[in-house]
Formats: sequence, C-alpha cells, structure tokens
Amino acid sequence: MTETHLDIPSFDDYDEVNSPRPAATDFDTVVDGAMSRRNFLGGGVAFGAAALVMGSTALTPLRAQASDRLGFNAVATNSMDTVTVPSGYNWQIVAKWGDPLWSGAADFEQETRGTGETQERAFGDNNDGMAMFAYGERTILTVNNEYTNRSIIYGNRDSKLPENADDVRKGKAAHGVSVVEVAQDNGHWSIVKDSPFNRRITADTPVALTGPAAGHDLLKTEADPSGLSALGTWNNCGNGRTPWGTYLACEENFNGYFSASADGWEQDAAQKRYGINKEDWGYAWATADERFDVSKHPNEPHRCGYIVEIDPLDPTSTPKKRTALGRFKHENAEVVLANNGQVVVYMGDDERGEFLYKFVSAGSYTVGGDNTDLLEDGTLYVAKFHDNLRGEWLALTEPATGMNNKAEICVMTRQAASAVGATTMDRPEWISANPNKIEAYCCLTNNKNRGKKPNKGGDETPVGGPNPRAGNNYGQIVRWVPDGGDHGNTAFAWDLFVVAGNPHVHEDDYAGSSNITKENTFNSPDGLAFDSTGLLWIQTDGKYSNEGDYVGQGNNQMLVGDPDSGEIRRFMVGPRECEITGITWSPDRRSLFVGIQHPGEKGDSHYPDGGSSVPRSTVIAIRRDDGGLIG
Ligand code: FEO
Ligand code: CA
Ligand code: CA
Repeated sequence: MTETHLDIPSFDDYDEVNSPRPAATDFDTVVDGAMSRRNFLGGGVAFGAAALVMGSTALTPLRAQASDRLGFNAVATNSMDTVTVPSGYNWQIVAKWGDPLWSGAADFEQETRGTGETQERAFGDNNDGMAMFAYGERTILTVNNEYTNRSIIYGNRDSKLPENADDVRKGKAAHGVSVVEVAQDNGHWSIVKDSPFNRRITADTPVALTGPAAGHDLLKTEADPSGLSALGTWNNCGNGRTPWGTYLACEENFNGYFSASADGWEQDAAQKRYGINKEDWGYAWATADERFDVSKHPNEPHRCGYIVEIDPLDPTSTPKKRTALGRFKHENAEVVLANNGQVVVYMGDDERGEFLYKFVSAGSYTVGGDNTDLLEDGTLYVAKFHDNLRGEWLALTEPATGMNNKAEICVMTRQAASAVGATTMDRPEWISANPNKIEAYCCLTNNKNRGKKPNKGGDETPVGGPNPRAGNNYGQIVRWVPDGGDHGNTAFAWDLFVVAGNPHVHEDDYAGSSNITKENTFNSPDGLAFDSTGLLWIQTDGKYSNEGDYVGQGNNQMLVGDPDSGEIRRFMVGPRECEITGITWSPDRRSLFVGIQHPGEKGDSHYPDGGSSVPRSTVIAIRRDDGGLIG
C-alpha cells in the first residue's frame, strides 16, 4: 500500500506552531549584540558570521589531513532506498519494528500493521538509542523505541491516525524500550525468541519516581497521590549506560502526547516552556487514557521528561525515573567519572535555544560496591560559554535559581537554567566523551531561529560563541576540555570540532569549516559516539531533499571523524526519508549495530522489504567482510 504523502512537521515544528516569533524580537538587534561583543574583544579571536572565512581559532580549529586512521573508502552520497556501506563491509538486518519477541506472538502483519495485543509482544517502533550488555556468553540488546509515525503505523486507517482505543493501545505499546537477547548464527544476528531477558517496557509499564522530586506535590496525581509511582516511558531518544551495568533511556518530546479537553483551557507559563498544548501531535492518547488530558490532570506532564534507569539483566526490575538529572527534552546521557569517582552525566536539551547540562553525583562510584543509587542525588549544572573559548558549569542551586528547593529545580529545570543565564544552544543532541582523552563532544544539530527568535522562555539567542551562524540550518559539533583533566571541574576550554555546511552551494560561512568538503558534506549531526579506538561516529537527522541548500548531501548518513586530525569521512548512507540514530557494538567488536529510524516518514520508502511493503525502522549490524574488528 502506498503511503499518502504528508508534509509532516518535525517535533520542533510542532512546538513552533504554538510559539510564533514575537514581533518584539528584532533580528537586527540580536545580531548587533553579537557584533558589538566582537568589537569589544577587539583584535582577539573573531566570532560570529565572519569568523568562518577568516579562519579563526574558534571556528576552524582543525585542518583536515588525510590519514590512514579511518581505514575505509568513503561512501558517496545517494538517494537510494537502501543502506550503503564501504567496500569490504556488509550489512544485515537484526530486528525490525513489529518482530515478535516470543514464539507465541504473531508475525508483523503488513495490512493492519498489528494490533494492541501483537505490538505489546513485539519489537517497538522507531528504534533510537541502544546499548549492548553481556551476560556470560549471551548478548542483550536494549533499544529505545522513540515514537511512531502516525501515517505509517495507522496507514490502514483512512485518516492515517488512531481511530479507536485499540489503535491507541497499539501506539502506546510501540513506544518505550525493547530488551531483546540477540545471537549470531553463521554470522547472522537475530532475536532469540522466548529468551528470559526479552522484555517490553511501554507507555503503561509501572515505573518508580526517585530523587529530589519524588513525592513532591508537583508530581502527585489523582491516580498516584504519593507522587512516587508513574506509568510508562515514551519518546526516549538517545541513551546512556552506566559503569555499573544499567541502561539509561532519555525522555525527549514527552509533551506531544498531552492535550486538554476543557473549553477555554489555556497553557500557563510553565506549560508553555515545556510545550504542553491544547492539542497533542496526533497520538490521541487522551482519548483512551485520561491521564493525558492536562485539563483534568495538570501534574501528569511533571512526571515525564526524565532520565530512566533500567536494569536490562533483570526483567522483573522496576525502571526508575531519576529526577535528580532534571526535567527537559533529554537527548542522551553520557556517563563518565570525575577523578574522585563522582559520576558525571552530560546531557543535552534538544530544543532550539535550550541548554547543555551536567549532573554530578553526591556519592562516588566504587568498583564492586553498591552503586545502584548514585543517580539518586547530586548537583545539576548548566553550561555557560564565553566568547574567549572558555566556559563554566553553573550550579543550579536554590540561591542561584531563586527556587524554593531541589525538587522544584529538578522539575522546572529549564526555568532554573534560564535564571542563572546559561548559554542558549543550537539544539544540543548527543554527547560523547573521548575514551582516550578527557574531553567531550556534543552535536548542535541546527537552529533556524539562531539570531532571530528567543527560546520559549524568552532567552535571547545571539549569534556567537559555539553557535556562530544565524539561521543555522547545517549544525556543528562543539567540544570541551575540562580544566585539570577532570570531568568534575566546573571550568573548561571549548572549540568547534566541525561546522557543517555545503560547499556545493555556498562559499561563505554556510560552506562549513575547513574539514568540510564536497566529498563529506552533510547536515544536522545528531547521534554521536566514540568507539574504543577513539574515532568519532557521527549520525545525521537532517534534510534529505538533495535540493537547494542540501544539494549533494543525499539521504541521512553516518560519518567517522578523527578527533586529532579533524578529518571526516562518510561511512554509510541510509535509505530514503530515514534518520540514522543509535549505535552500539557487539562484545567482540566485530559487529557494529546501527539504527535506521523512520524510513519513508513522508511516504517514499519501502525499506527494508521492498515491493509495496510498509517501511519499518530497523536495527542493522555492519561487519567487515574479513570478520575483522570494527571500532
Ligand atoms: Fe530524538 Fe533530539 O532527537
Ligand atoms: Ca536524536
Ligand atoms: Ca534530531
């Protein structure tokens, strides 16, 4: 069946509809601010729009050099409806949306795309962040199922939307997390049906609320007057993993599932900041589950937007929402240790003009000790970048934020960060720390509003610092080195690893930094992970029109960067209308697992099965033809 071609707004665009550009914000005023700061610095490092062509230290820190370290032949861009990998590599499908996890469960049905019951026993939709865990000889893959494309999962309905309670049940079950044992047979990976580790966590699975906000009035609802236990997790984007063997799922666009049925309902300032609106984004969950009606249950949205800690090796364990790590549109959670053993978690808030955070645990990690509650308590910090390539982490304390207690800071985290004057960023996506060096990298995927419009809290978004271009449609990757070689330090130095751009179209700032060429051009870096050798894998979630500003960039892709030389080379191209997101390795590092999310989101893909089949998100494994190590 051919999908209707729908012009589907992105997550950010949904919020945009409800947050139009205020007339009071004058683009010129904002740009003038950045310019005068340049003048103030006089003669020093140049910032802002002109800096790219001037070759400033900040914006072209690296000159790409040919190196053998990347070790593969670059893949050219294309717009084909399949996966392309370099010569000498091969790929295979490991798991697809709707694959049953138990032998009694039904196979995916093309015509109906499943029911509530079959989806509850099957691999979820739109796989995103993932991590592999070893249990003896067994390998357990834990995968976020971020969201659903309504036009695909409900493609059997005339409206292309959920039309009854079972449709909503199916949608809720397609979200959450899939825990699946996988095994290799003759080099081919597949799901081990009926494994005792197999588990589906959905939007209805009981979860515990933990940390400073647990039990606070803001988290209490009619169904849970204790404020200690909630139901489910959804819209988990990137992920994290802890040194003590747990998985972190990161709740991102949780707001799009809520709606308000009451006549005359209007959002308050806090709801506006988090994008809670009268209409949901087409999921219709409130039609079958009243807790998603904010006019009846206004505290329910306070119970999501967190990092969720899951023990993938204990299928009976209760997932824990860790409120200490703050409430916002979490992208991923990169866990490292400070030199004194405190746990440091770097986290981005993926919305235009929102912030970059880090959490530092109160307790310290001890090898072989009880580390199970290290994410229960600690201090949240937010990043402030200065134009002189220095930066600092500002603690979100009661005196600094003007808030009454830690619980409020953990629930209204965006407002707390605004109060301390954090730097508004170009949509912080994944963060990854270099295993060979004390430094971390973050994808700033794009921000069409940079220099044009404040964030939803009214914070200005001036051009400058790590966000150097107005109307930034290509994105960049910022990196920072904490002072003293210690992730626990609150001071850091920063620069830009790459400013993406398109030299086919532009010769100015929008051509990108010097390590962008016509051969490796891309837009909208999103997924990001270092491998064990210290190479940086970059995944994109951007425009795939291959027209206009995006000519020669083709479908979304995955590239590999050398953090030392700055060289970037394209490793993979995905099928049509997908994004590439999620990356993990087999324990022997001979298989690289990568996520293909939302192929055909606008109706132009039949990946992976071809013909007239329904497009399905998949986890694939990439291997070298010679069986060698891959990262
Ligand atoms: Fe789910 Fe920010 O991407
Ligand atoms: Ca993402
Ligand atoms: Ca994205």
